[in-house]
Amino acid sequence: MAPARVTAAATHRIGVLDAAIAPRVAALAARDLLRDDATPPPDAVVACSNLYLGDDGIGAGASRLVSGTRAAHLDLERALAAWVEAPAALLFNSGYAANAGAIPALADRGDAVFSDALNHASIIDGVRLSRAERVIYPHADLAALDRALAACEAPGLKLVATESVFSMDGDVVPLADLVELCRRHSAALYVDEAHALGVCGRGGRGVAHALGLAADVDVLVGTLGKSFGAFGAFAATSNAVRRYLVSRARTFVFSTALPESVAEGALAALPLLIDGAAQARLWERIDRLCAGLERAGWWQGRAASAIIPLLAGTERDALAWSREVAARGYFVQAIRPPTVPPGTSRLRLTVSASYDDALVDGLVDALVESARALGIPPTAARHVQA
Ligand SMILES: Cc1ncc(COP(=O)(O)O)c(C=O)c1O
Repeated sequence: MAPARVTAAATHRIGVLDAAIAPRVAALAARDLLRDDATPPPDAVVACSNLYLGDDGIGAGASRLVSGTRAAHLDLERALAAWVEAPAALLFNSGYAANAGAIPALADRGDAVFSDALNHASIIDGVRLSRAERVIYPHADLAALDRALAACEAPGLKLVATESVFSMDGDVVPLADLVELCRRHSAALYVDEAHALGVCGRGGRGVAHALGLAADVDVLVGTLGKSFGAFGAFAATSNAVRRYLVSRARTFVFSTALPESVAEGALAALPLLIDGAAQARLWERIDRLCAGLERAGWWQGRAASAIIPLLAGTERDALAWSREVAARGYFVQAIRPPTVPPGTSRLRLTVSASYDDALVDGLVDALVESARALGIPPTAARHVQA
């Protein structure tokens, strides 16, 4: 699939999330509990960092709220927000920290959070940490989600959390229908685009942008450890929600800030994503891999992402397959429960723009020959497209 070339509207909807958050921000402000993530004054002697031995090292020395905020963090946040066409962005130390911190901050007592059954562990843990009512709906089953939203009696915010590209299956959430559903139920939408950024959408802006739905996503989470080749993550959202997360997302408040050099590295990578040349090469590689797998009966149709799951079934078969493939010079990790549901252990391939034709073809041969040697029958996997 060629990257979608849709231009999204640049305005962010003032949605139900902002309406729910505004009084919480005001309540914090009234109690002098609203935090500020500004950099320390340039001329001041910083007497509150944790750099006890006086060496500057590579670390920020403290959490963002104490004295760890640097210009590099704020520059990167501005650039990321502009890229995905959101009013603001907030850095987290990892995608795990973003989901584990932002979800419980936003969905609190009296609220309800709805989470896709195949969401990443970091979303699952964020949901578990939330004091909201929790509903897990079957994977991408919008009819079930519709019923759950209709039946929900929680008086506060309804927050729907999903990935756009699912990390272990590579399929894409039906985002346009999900946006419509959220609108109908006045629910806020939280979308983790970890595996879509750099891969899907013009300039790698992800699935929501590709579908012209960027303004309909209340919180977009992106990671910097995947297409960016750096480390960390961000939540792109409204100014009010950013403000609230600064004060209330515990993984942001209570953790040392990202090293400046990491923020600078991620910022340096952004033009490479926007440029689109590597993304175009990646899609050629994906198409070549899938065509090869399809000829061998292991795949069907065009891929929707760079994640290609090949089902082995049992844990033992997945491990044996991974070892056989390694003996042929390719490393593909066996993915087993609890990362995937029991009975669906698999080799999860990911494609890189840097592979040449021979590497891609060799990978197909290694996979197919190994499966044949082990007697693992081909299952023609496919992606559901948004
Ligand atoms: C969908 C999704 N969200 C979040 C994360 C966590 O990101 P990080 O590795 O930056 O903690 C991952 C990691 O693989 C992921 O697949």
